[in-house]
Amino acid sequence: MRPTVLHDLRAHPDPDVLGDFYSSVLVPSFSPEELSPESDLSHGLARLDGVQLHALVAVDTQTGRAIGGVVATLFARSQVLLVAYLAVRPDLRQGGLGRHLVDQARLRWAGLEAKLILAEVHDPRYHASTDPWAWSRVQLYDEMGARALALPFVQPEVRRGAGRARHFLLLVFHAEPSVVTDVGAGSSVTASVLEDFVLDYYADAEGPSRADDGDLAWLVGRLRAGTAVPLLPLSRLDEVPRDPRSG
Ligand SMILES: CC(C)(COP(=O)(O)OP(=O)(O)OC[C@H]1O[C@@H](n2cnc3c(N)ncnc32)[C@H](O)[C@@H]1OP(=O)(O)O)[C@@H](O)C(=O)NCCC(=O)NCCS
Repeated sequence: MRPTVLHDLRAHPDPDVLGDFYSSVLVPSFSPEELSPESDLSHGLARLDGVQLHALVAVDTQTGRAIGGVVATLFARSQVLLVAYLAVRPDLRQGGLGRHLVDQARLRWAGLEAKLILAEVHDPRYHASTDPWAWSRVQLYDEMGARALALPFVQPEVRRGAGRARHFLLLVFHAEPSVVTDVGAGSSVTASVLEDFVLDYYADAEGPSRADDGDLAWLVGRLRAGTAVPLLPLSRLDEVPRDPRSG
């Protein structure tokens, strides 16, 4: 791995580091509909309440250039931290930086005292034909100790006009004991904290919810139907329910 320093953009705002990270790392790693505008990232990093962004950027100590980073959204009301982006510059992948970033983020963001640390990924059962890395990504997160929620997830519109994205998995990197129940051989996450998170995430991405919002009503209805959502090892992905509303 190249020698890097981690730049915490919330603690030390720097438009040059953010701009370099955005254009050299995020733009080549995500499709336009997946990526929020740079100005939104800048705004979220400066916010002190409500919905705050946190970002760690790996800067090459020799060149001073951004070569990777991780961005997460803290929803203050539900106390859930959602990893929004994890990326390494395309020419420097598979050198261990991705794993290093996740390890560092876990250490540094433990102090935020989130009830849950989540990430959302393409469900490879649906996306493998268009996203060749869908299975490898799940494998990587499995090695990092993540587990999947048994909940088919629809990502809200993260960029205006791009539409929602179907067939996502919500992965859990960390869950506070207060939101975990052990049932028989497995663990589950309290449904109410997930409902709070879904409502916060949709409202932040798309604005106040509409009475005719079918996706949101379906997700909330599903969460209200039970008290907890099972956590599954990623080796048992086939047990995550499929969205019955689409093929
Ligand atoms: C996922 C990603 C951050 C991993 O970074 P990295 O520095 O290559 O990670 P590491 O070197 O620590 O681990 C490499 C592993 O990642 C896996 N991987 C997942 N997606 C990958 C991708 N798009 N390109 C290369 N490797 C990828 C590889 O299978 C590899 O596993 P291996 O070591 O068993 O061969 C990086 O590949 C990336 O930026 N991908 C595009 C953006 C993305 O998909 N982000 C995750 C969703 S938010």
